[in-house]
Amino acid sequence: MNILVIGSGGREHTFCWKLAQSPKCKNLYVSPGNAGTSEIATNLAISVTDFESIKEAVIKYDIEMVIVGPEAPLVGGIKEYFELDDKLKLVSLIGPDSKASKLEGSKSFAKAFMNRHNIPTAKHSEFTSNSIEKGLRFLETMSPPYVLKADGLAAGKGVLIIDDINEAKSELKSMLINKKFGQASEKVVIEEFLDGIELSCFVLTDGETGITLPMAKDYKKIGEKDKGLNTGGMGAISPVPFADEKFIKKINDRIIEPTLLGFKKDNLPYQGFVFIGLINVNGDPKVIEYNVRMGDPETEVVIPRIKNDLVSLFEATANKTLSKIKLEIDPRIASTVMSVSGGYPEEYEKGHEIEGISDIKDTLVFHSGTTIKDKKIITSGGRVITVTGLGDNMSEALKKSYEGLQKINYKGMYYRKDIGFDL
Ligand code: AMP
Ligand code: GLY
Repeated sequence: MNILVIGSGGREHTFCWKLAQSPKCKNLYVSPGNAGTSEIATNLAISVTDFESIKEAVIKYDIEMVIVGPEAPLVGGIKEYFELDDKLKLVSLIGPDSKASKLEGSKSFAKAFMNRHNIPTAKHSEFTSNSIEKGLRFLETMSPPYVLKADGLAAGKGVLIIDDINEAKSELKSMLINKKFGQASEKVVIEEFLDGIELSCFVLTDGETGITLPMAKDYKKIGEKDKGLNTGGMGAISPVPFADEKFIKKINDRIIEPTLLGFKKDNLPYQGFVFIGLINVNGDPKVIEYNVRMGDPETEVVIPRIKNDLVSLFEATANKTLSKIKLEIDPRIASTVMSVSGGYPEEYEKGHEIEGISDIKDTLVFHSGTTIKDKKIITSGGRVITVTGLGDNMSEALKKSYEGLQKINYKGMYYRKDIGFDL
């Protein structure tokens, strides 16, 4: 069948890499894609939220399956757009509708969902500009660090963790009154700080049942030893050594099962990925956030460990037959290390030529922010390229990632040298 992947990052390159290996995949398209995807699929210059142009492409190229990578089209209702259109309703679209996507699109919605279904998470309260005085008083009842979250999508920047009470109060005012994050911070969630180590859990669900994919750990900070600003993710490891059988059972019983049951109870039809951001608090998993998509760069370590045919997994998701599928996992450890543009996550330059990619052997190279200009691969984003290594142990996997990255060169290239340091 002909398949379209929506998105342009390393996650989408990884999906394309895996889908292209399937005997069921005839023609593979990606909108808009990047320089890496253009080698294995046909890039279509369509923005991820331009549903009309996506519809035209689906009809023109006779596409039967669409995999939505990022959250924006899901929160924007691409699922309903397909379901309500006579020409698109038979296309299998992998991703939830806008109602369920509020799990990612609204922190307040996600908190209410977790409380309703007794899913362990940080205690919280929420405030708007009308209740700002209450918010300021609420902060005084909390102990530091203070966790302030813009309710809506804020490009990964909407969460502030602050040690000083006066700074927390002034940030709360700036979010609610000066709309620091625009509409996204018209409502603010203030929650208890959870102390522990984070991990990412992924479930592929057909709305009836769910398959838990390998766990991964993401490194979000720009600096080594997890210092500095938050990024989209600087590297990842899968599996997560501390997520042993006992801990995974707790995640399954206390979080995954009630989440899937919650979808049914709340009448949220869901066919797609659920990404549960977890924190291990003294051996007990608690939910930090839900996302309605795969993580990036977690996808770059999770998907390469899945042996099953990915098209078959998505077919089963669309046909509600996931319960018949047995997931086969490569027991090796996967690591990925992301190289970024100098200056990222703040201002950075684009348009620098990337050299050395073709010299990399024995590892998987996934492009994020790259494009082709005058037949050369150039940088076009903050996160540029990630290199995934697989090994019998973590140091072997990481050695491959780093050996691969050392062959790549572009002006301002930066990557963390300590991925996996805490495991
Ligand atoms: P979120 O966008 O909700 O995932 O938050 C971004 C990051 O902030 C998370 O990955 C955590 O590192 C951190 N964070 C969010 N909520 C909490 C919390 N309640 N306690 C501790 N850290 C948190
Ligand atoms: N790596 C974290 C995310 O995709 O949100």
